[in-house]
Amino acid sequence: MKVNNAEIVISAVSQKQYPGDRLPEIALAGRSNVGKSSFINKLINRKNLARTSSKPGKTQTLNFYKINDVFYFVDVPGYGYAKVSKKEREKWGVMMEEYFETRETLKAVLLITDIRHEPTNDDIQMYHFLKHYDLRVIIVATKLDKVPKNKRASHVKRTKKALEMDEEDHLLPFSSETGEGKEEAWRLLSQYI
Ligand code: GTP
Ligand code: MG
Repeated sequence: MKVNNAEIVISAVSQKQYPGDRLPEIALAGRSNVGKSSFINKLINRKNLARTSSKPGKTQTLNFYKINDVFYFVDVPGYGYAKVSKKEREKWGVMMEEYFETRETLKAVLLITDIRHEPTNDDIQMYHFLKHYDLRVIIVATKLDKVPKNKRASHVKRTKKALEMDEEDHLLPFSSETGEGKEEAWRLLSQYI
């Protein structure tokens, strides 16, 4: 898709703030600092529309980015960041469940993992949580630029195995640094938008 227009519509913390125009939505999910916001920026060719940071915990709300008046990317706060209070973690849980369980316009979820590392227990839990709600999940294994070419296949295999990924689900190796995987990402997303 050629992106001509991308804008933040709302940073929401609860259901009543979600946009009401019923456009299809593609949400992101993944560990804090894994590269969710960077993925959005790379796909839409914008440096920092979705705010990124080298420190985890940058994205704190559900951020709805309207793309070409056709669909939304929904950027979400990451999980697994140790320096978060119990209260904040509970708040995060409520916000995420409310969104993933009830959102009718949610067409697919991009679960972002770090291709350098074996998926964490939180990643595994999130994958199964999303599957449990019958959501379409695409695994995006990002930071591909950090893994030498001759090691990539084994890292992909390790990710699939740890997640016990369904055959029908796609795993997309990706890099926000180099743009590898970007065309394939748009191709996969075009089925849903
Ligand atoms: P939270 O909002 O805290 O949950 O983080 P996030 O998942 O949105 O991560 P973000 O996009 O802010 O990126 C975190 C850091 O990883 C930044 O310093 C990015 O520059 C870096 N990063 C993201 N994607 C890549 C990638 O593909 N390759 C490399 N080398 N660095 C990346
Ligand atoms: Mg973010």
